[in-house]
Amino acid sequence: MKPRPVIAGNWKMNMNPQEVREFFRSFRPDFPPGPNPELLLFPPFVSLAAALEARPWEPQVEVGVQNIFWEDSGAFTGEVSAPLARASGATHVLIGHSERRHVFGEENEDVVRKVGAALKAGLVPVVCVGETLAERRADRLREVILGQLDAFLPALSGDTDAAFLLAYEPVWAIGTGETATPEDASQAHGMLRSRLREKLGDARADATPILYGGSVKPDNAAELLRAPDVNGVLVGGASLDPASFLAIARAALPLT
Ligand code: PGA
Repeated sequence: MKPRPVIAGNWKMNMNPQEVREFFRSFRPDFPPGPNPELLLFPPFVSLAAALEARPWEPQVEVGVQNIFWEDSGAFTGEVSAPLARASGATHVLIGHSERRHVFGEENEDVVRKVGAALKAGLVPVVCVGETLAERRADRLREVILGQLDAFLPALSGDTDAAFLLAYEPVWAIGTGETATPEDASQAHGMLRSRLREKLGDARADATPILYGGSVKPDNAAELLRAPDVNGVLVGGASLDPASFLAIARAALPLT
């Protein structure tokens, strides 16, 4: 079964609690009754509580964290574990975002540990994969994104029901204003979906949402959301503005 479209916003290192409350004063989706897109926001840790308090009840907005450490507790100054995030109300966690990989040096081994920790704590991982411009130019798209996918799939193997989301985010399109074309997105998503079929079977592969991320804006969201194998979007910059994020969410309505 095709998953419900997911509209996710990654606020990165922005949005203090006061700004989050202001965001939700204007972000009031007036969706018609019936199936709606799934809405998901990732505030920084310090604004998680404000987001949980200020979000509207209807339609439901789920709130996740942007990172976790893989140990459950202990002497790890500055880190937040999956159980801490879950107990604070987060339902989802971004793992392997390109900024974690490229700015903070996270490797596939870190990603697999974090996916395992998230699942154990009952958080839904949203695992990001994507190639750099150099890798794309060297014709390494397939090798890179499937390598990143294969690296964390073992973390799911024991758990045949574990829900997770995938996000394809070409590094060259993040925060650059450069968007992949719907054809580029479909091509990469198709590769990821086929690999999920091989490894997890058809039913699970079809039920796993694959989101596109990288300079998604109100004016390109509809065409990206309609592209084959694209089940939603992960939005950075444009999710900071309630009107833009709402316009992107509305673009998913015809697909619900
Ligand atoms: P962007 O970021 O929409 O600002 O390009 C996307 C992301 O990093 O998730």
